[in-house]
Amino acid sequence: MARGKFITFEGGEGCGKSTQVRRLKAALEQRGVTVLLTREPGGTRLAEQVRSLLKDEADDPPCDRAELLLFLAARAQLVRKVIRPALESGTWVVSDRFSDSTLAYQGYGRGLPLDIIREANDFACEGLKPDKTILLDVDPETSRARMRGREASTNTTADRIERAGDDFHSRLRKGFLEMAAAEPSRIVTVDASGDEDEVWERVWKSLTPIL
Ligand SMILES: Nc1ncnc2c1ncn2[C@@H]1O[C@H](COP(=O)(O)OP(=O)(O)OP(=O)(O)O)[C@@H](O)[C@H]1O
Ligand SMILES: [Mg+2]
Repeated sequence: MARGKFITFEGGEGCGKSTQVRRLKAALEQRGVTVLLTREPGGTRLAEQVRSLLKDEADDPPCDRAELLLFLAARAQLVRKVIRPALESGTWVVSDRFSDSTLAYQGYGRGLPLDIIREANDFACEGLKPDKTILLDVDPETSRARMRGREASTNTTADRIERAGDDFHSRLRKGFLEMAAAEPSRIVTVDASGDEDEVWERVWKSLTPIL
């Protein structure tokens, strides 16, 4: 049995990750590929509990280092219990965010040391790297507008991390683009402006090398 491929989607809030992840799953399944979708943080019972701790709005929000370690704890559990076994059984895994988000948010965003995060990420993932990472890149105005649209249509409000200021979000974007420049064979930057169909066409095309 050939090992499954591991594809991750990255980018700031509202760039369209969850939308494109669903389209990719459907397109792969149409080709007869078994696909498992995972989201980060989450995907196992423990990791979903960590997710709610991270989203907690109570009076004791995690400090930056605690936040980093909680994300990594959730990821370690997801890799060990779900992602690795799936890949080994030939299932393709598509993840809505993965390690690169930690480097972007806790490193470029919060300012924790990048080298420590890289090493800790590697430790948490037991060295597992995505075969391909799609970085959905869009300007901040567009992503803000999409977020507002989603909040209105789903009757929700922004969470603790989503509410971080514009400065934080521009550091994030810069971080993601730097990471893509540093690992061009794994991370492909896809222009996420335009409607869902246009973005999807770019995503699908960028995956041809591994299909
Ligand atoms: N290309 C697009 N053009 C316009 N609207 C879009 C596009 N892609 C997604 N949307 C809409 O924008 C909102 C945000 O998209 P989505 O939830 O897929 O983003 P996300 O990257 O998963 O966000 P988050 O990081 O918050 O999970 C949704 O309401 C979605 O329907
Ligand atoms: Mg999403």
